[in-house]
Amino acid sequence: SQALQAELLDLAVAAAERAGAFLRDGRPADLGVAATKTSAVDVVTEMDIASEKLITGYLGDHRPDDGFLGEEGASVEGTTGVQWVIDPIDGTVNYLYGRPAWAVSIAARKDGETVVGVVHVPMQGETFRACLGEGAYVGEQPLKAGAAPAFGQALLGTGFGYREERRIRQAEVVRQLIPQVRDIRRGGSAAIDLCDVACGRLDAYYERGLNPWDYAAGELIAREAGALVGGRPGEELSTELTVAAPPGLFETLQGKLDELGAWHD
Ligand code: IPD
Repeated sequence: SQALQAELLDLAVAAAERAGAFLRDGRPADLGVAATKTSAVDVVTEMDIASEKLITGYLGDHRPDDGFLGEEGASVEGTTGVQWVIDPIDGTVNYLYGRPAWAVSIAARKDGETVVGVVHVPMQGETFRACLGEGAYVGEQPLKAGAAPAFGQALLGTGFGYREERRIRQAEVVRQLIPQVRDIRRGGSAAIDLCDVACGRLDAYYERGLNPWDYAAGELIAREAGALVGGRPGEELSTELTVAAPPGLFETLQGKLDELGAWHD
């Protein structure tokens, strides 16, 4: 119902902004230049875990019987049919290096369907949000995915997984696509990439191998802004492949990615 969605949206925004402030203010200034990157990575991992705890703690105080699925291990069934899907830092490597493109991503699913999505980008001072059937917004401004350009004029976003074998395949797909389009960006946060499609800062985005917490909130925001989001042609998006773009460009990109086998390693 709209009342439930409104309640979940308010909680998600409040939780994401609390976590965002904690991560922004708590990040040691010398993280990126720390003597050993391994110890810096440990600090980021601790911030990631603390951020997830802060979010699940806040949401759990208000709605103690909901379920949770979080990147840092939160996994609770719950009894209300509502499950929160949480990425406490999406864009961890950007966060590590002091680059601004990282986000807190929180989605709420009701009986398996995503009904609320919030992507808070502390260093941009932006909170993207959407409720199912009610449009997408950044602040008070409604979002509209851009009109689809010709494939040759499209600015694409993508991302790469962490495993070598997968990255070899991903590099091959980029090699094939790059001469055909305006350009390709690797922003470093899937949640922000999906919001960028929602507001026209990217024409399209695709990536193989995302996890549900990377895309749950951004998927709804992109859809509610009028973009299409899916996987292989005729399929829903999945951890296998995520494609997002306005109608017209979406089908072209999906077809090319399928031909190139972008959905497998
Ligand atoms: C990563 C980011 C990145 C994408 C990776 C994700 P994380 O999430 O979204 O842009 O390319 O596939 O794993 O690890 O920073 O939460």
